Amino acid sequence: MCFTILIILVVVSTPISANILCDKHNQSPQIPKYHLMEKCHRSKLGIAAKANFASLSSCQRLGIAKKALALNFSPPDAAIEGAEPLEYTCEVLKCAEVDGGLSLVNDSRYDYYSIYAKPIPHVNATCVPASGMFRLLQKRLNFTQAVVECRNMSGVLPDVTSEQRTDALAQVLAGAGVDAAFVGLRRNNRSSFHGINGGHLDCTSYRAWAPGHPRRYADKFDCVVITKHRMWQSVSCKNEQPVLCELLPNGPYKRGSIFTSTKVEQNNYTNNDV
Ligand SMILES: *[C@@H]1O[C@H](CO)[C@@H](O)[C@H](O)[C@H]1NC(C)=O
Ligand SMILES: *[C@@H]1O[C@H](CO)[C@@H](O)[C@H](O)[C@H]1NC(C)=O
Ligand SMILES: *[C@@H]1O[C@H](CO)[C@@H](O)[C@H](O)[C@H]1NC(C)=O
Ligand SMILES: *[C@@H]1O[C@H](CO)[C@@H](O)[C@H](O)[C@H]1NC(C)=O
Ligand SMILES: *[C@@H]1O[C@H](CO)[C@@H](O)[C@H](O)[C@H]1NC(C)=O
Ligand SMILES: *[C@@H]1O[C@H](CO)[C@@H](O)[C@H](O)[C@H]1NC(C)=O
Repeated sequence: MCFTILIILVVVSTPISANILCDKHNQSPQIPKYHLMEKCHRSKLGIAAKANFASLSSCQRLGIAKKALALNFSPPDAAIEGAEPLEYTCEVLKCAEVDGGLSLVNDSRYDYYSIYAKPIPHVNATCVPASGMFRLLQKRLNFTQAVVECRNMSGVLPDVTSEQRTDALAQVLAGAGVDAAFVGLRRNNRSSFHGINGGHLDCTSYRAWAPGHPRRYADKFDCVVITKHRMWQSVSCKNEQPVLCELLPNGPYKRGSIFTSTKVEQNNYTNNDV
C-alpha cells in the first residue's frame, strides 16, 4: 500500500515536459571568459577576493567562483628583480571598468582582464556586484521598443529570477528615483512566464510577485516590471515604462580602446595622419 502511494507521488512530481524544458535551459550555463584588456595596468575597483596564484587559470577560476566581472593578475615573469614579491598575484573584482578606464592605473606588475571585451559606455552604466553591468533607461518605452533599445546597446532585458538580482535591481531603481521598469520576463499565447532568452519561470523557485500578481492571462498583462520595492508586477506590454538593460559581455576587443574616450578628450590627433 505504502509502496503504491510512493510510486504515484514520484510520477506526479516529475512532469516530464517541464524537466526537458529545464534541462535544456540548464545545459548552457554562461561561464564568463576573462579577456586581456590592458597589460601593465591594475584596476582599483573593489576587490571581491584575492589570492596568490602562479597561473592565470587559477585566478580565472577564483573569478568565476566569486562572480567577478574583472580581475588583476600578475604573471610570474612580471616580478621586479630585487623587489619584494607581491602578497597577492590575483585580485578578482566586483565591477568592470567602463569606457575611459577611469579606475585603471599604470602598474607594470599586473595585467587587467574583464568579461566585457567591448568597452562599456560610461554614461549611466551601473555595476551590480556579482551580477553584471546595467543601464536604466528613464525614457518610457513599450515592451517591443524596450527589447530593441536594449539590443541596440548590446544588452538584453535582465533576468530577475533570483533574490539577489531582484534586490540589487530594485536598488538601482530606488537610487535613481524610478518606481518601476521593464525586465526580461513575459508570457505568450497562454504560456507561463519565461525569460526573454528562453528560461522558463517554472524552472526556478524564487518569486517576487506583488500581491495580486501576476494578473489573469485574460487581462493581457503579459509583460513584467520590477518595482523599487523589490516586487514584480504584470503589466500590459503596450504600457510605456522605464527600462532596465543588462549589458552583455562581448567582443572582440581592440587593445587600447578602453581608453578611447579619455584620449580623444586629452590629446590632439591632428598630426597623426600627416
Ligand atoms: C601610463 O603609462 C603610459 C605609457 O606607458 C603613459 O602614457 C600614461 O600617461 C601613464 N598614465 C599615468 C596615469 O601615469
Ligand atoms: C543619463 O541619465 C540622466 C538622468 O539620470 C539622463 O538625463 C541622461 O539623458 C542619461 N544619458 C544617457 C546617454 O542616457
Ligand atoms: C542605437 O544606438 C546608436 C548609438 O549607439 C544611436 O545613434 C541610434 O539612434 C540607436 N538606434 C535606435 C533604433 O535606438
Ligand atoms: C498558441 O496555442 C495554440 C493552442 O495551444 C497553438 O495551436 C498555437 O500554435 C500557439 N501559437 C503560437 C504562436 O505558439
Ligand atoms: C510599441 O510601439 C511601437 C511604435 O509606436 C509599435 O509599433 C508597437 O506595436 C508597440 N508595441 C506594443 C507591444 O504595444
Ligand atoms: C590642436 O591642434 C591645433 C592645430 O594644430 C591647435 O590649434 C590646437 O591648439 C591644438 N589643441 C590642443 C589641445 O593641443
